[in-house]
Order: sequence, then structure tokens, then C-alpha cells
Amino acid sequence: RHPEFRHFMLKEIYEQPDVVRACLEKYLNLDWTQNRTSESPIHLGLPASFYNGLAEIHIVACGTSLHASLVGQYWLEQLAGIPTRVRYASEFPDHPFPLTPNTLTIAVTQSGETADTLKALTFEQQRRSQLTPACRPRLLGLTNQPNSTLQQRVDHILHAPSEQEVGVAATKSFVAQLIVFYTLALDLACRRQMLSSDRLDILLREVERLPEKISQILAATDAIAQLAKELVDTQDFIFLARGINYPIALEGALKLKETSYIHAEGYAAGEFLHGPIAILDEQVTVVAIAMPGQVYDKTLANLQKVKSRGARLIAITTPVNSEAAALFDSLLPIPDVDELLSPILTVIPLQLLAYYITVYRGLDVDRPRGLTKSLSAE
Ligand code: M6R
Repeated sequence: RHPEFRHFMLKEIYEQPDVVRACLEKYLNLDWTQNRTSESPIHLGLPASFYNGLAEIHIVACGTSLHASLVGQYWLEQLAGIPTRVRYASEFPDHPFPLTPNTLTIAVTQSGETADTLKALTFEQQRRSQLTPACRPRLLGLTNQPNSTLQQRVDHILHAPSEQEVGVAATKSFVAQLIVFYTLALDLACRRQMLSSDRLDILLREVERLPEKISQILAATDAIAQLAKELVDTQDFIFLARGINYPIALEGALKLKETSYIHAEGYAAGEFLHGPIAILDEQVTVVAIAMPGQVYDKTLANLQKVKSRGARLIAITTPVNSEAAALFDSLLPIPDVDELLSPILTVIPLQLLAYYITVYRGLDVDRPRGLTKSLSAE
């Protein structure tokens, strides 16, 4: 049951199990594992011409939508095997990707109105007329607002159904974008025969359990609120992760700094050792995502070095063995999950941490100073 919500941001964080359910219902046939009534469990509603000869994917986005795109890039490359590049929409017109044939360009924007993203699209539209129609880049919009300006500028649209998000900090819209990226990557992987039927079954069953697992994380909100109380005067936060959770480290830092105005930076844990680690001392708090999987041991090795500098270390992880537990000052538990889907869970405690730290600092968490829900000027 939802507790009483004092703010939209908290309400929207709590709506995420339902948002994930809505996205899954829209695009996946989850009964497919038992009852194969259709050729594929994925129904994105895109025409055959969308898929023809697709060789490369380019993505433009800003802020939280860019972080969703970086997770999407991982899925599109690792599941579907399609080379994928992501760029800040604000940089794209001045530093575009070389124009390549048979490319899908995806513009990702929660509001569908962000000026930088629309500008990048206009730029792409204009230059694609240089290519012959058969191999022109296709333009796809991924948005939480289907009736926005974005829709008029693209060939195809994928709607991430999250209903209205009032808090300026994007939360449920992000998780909805992740689910849509995941289904797109699964769809492309199936069409390119990159997934065995057994692996597809496992991935479908895992995604089906996500709403329940998000609810489990939300049930531990009190522990996160307590930790936030202890951290309220901390002035510097570093968020670390490797692999598919690296964009979640960036998102955790963005959530915290835009709502609480505390200095926070996200890094790839291995890269952090190449200089930035010098910033660490007892005053700095490090929040690390360390999920079991292919990067787990390397992440722990990086965190040993972090710990030796005296920084407070908070881990977002599944229940761990005692050796790993000894490394962490606090642990925010995540249910067991396939590493590929872990970003959809690891972001939840980071949203709650940003929310509670901001509220305990007495700030307006839904309307951070000088920010609007969508930036309609460049
Ligand atoms: O509407 P958009 O997704 O295009 O917005 C992009 C960014 O302005 C937005 O994600 C911003 O970073 C949020 N306030 C993050 O919480």
C-alpha cells in the first residue's frame, strides 16, 4: 500500500511498479513463455521497413533521458549486436556522427519538448536528404508524452507510458524509458537471431518479476530515509559503478545534485582511479553499485582502493558474503536479478536517497531552484 505522499517525487517513485507493468503490457506478451500463440512475444507496432538492413543506431538526448539512452546503448549492443552511439543532443549539431546509411536515429525525451533534442532532430532531418531514400536514416522518437512536438518530427514513435510526472526530477519516466529500450533491444535481438529461445524465456520471466522486486525495494524505504538523515550534512558524494550500471551512477549523482544542491559526481569505477580518486578523504561519501555479475569482482577491487582512502562507502548490492560486507559502511539491498536488468532496480534506492536528503535539508524537492520540467530554450 502506498504511504501518504508529502511530495510528487515520492509519489512518482512509488508509482514505478505500476509504470513497469503498464510498459510490459503495452509491448510484451508475457504469456508467451507458456503459450506461444504469436511468432514473437514483442509487439512494438513498427513496420517492416523500420528494420530493413539496419546497420547502426545513433541516439540523442539530454539529462536523465541521456542516462536511459546509455543503458539502452548497452542493451542494443550486447543483446542485439548493433553498433550504437549516444551523444548529448546539445552537442550533436556541432559534433554530429558521420552520416551513415541504414542508420536508425533515436531522439529520447521525456517531455517531447526539449529544445536541444528537437534541434538535433531537425539537423539530422536536413542532412539525411543527402542520402538516397532507400538508405536514409530512420528517425524514431522515444517519449513519455506521445502528443508532443517530438511526434511531428519523427518517422516512428515509441511511447513510454508513465502518465504525468510533476516532480522536476525525472523518476518514473526514466524507468519507463528503460523498459521501452529493453523491449526494443529484445525485438532487434530476436529478429537478428541473437537470442536462443531459452535465453529469451529467462529474460522474459526476469522482466515480469521487476514490479514485485521494485516493491520489495520500496518496502525498505525507512532504512534509506534513516541513512539519508545521517548524510544530510555531507558536502561531496561520488557515485561509482561499472558496466551496465555506470549510467545509473551518473543518474544517482544527477538526482542528488539537482534536488539537494549537494556536489555529486558519477564515474565509471575503473576510470575513477585515474586521477579523481585523489579527491577522497573521510569527508566524502561514495555510493557504489556492486551487483553480482561479470563486473562484480572488478568493482570490489576498485572499492578496496576507495575504502583505503578513508571515504564512507555505501553499497547498492544484493545480500553479500561477509568479506564484501566488511568493506561497506552501509548496504542498501537489491533483490537478486539478472545483471542485464539490474539498472531498473539499482536506480530506485538512489532516487529515494536523493529525495530524503533533500527533504531533510528543508528544500522544495518537487521544484528545485531555477529548474523547469522541460527546457524549451537551448
Ligand atoms: O524532457 P527531457 O527528457 O528531454 O528532459 C531532459 C532533461 O532536461 C531532464 O532529464 C532533466 O535532466 C531532469 N530534470 C532530470 O531529472
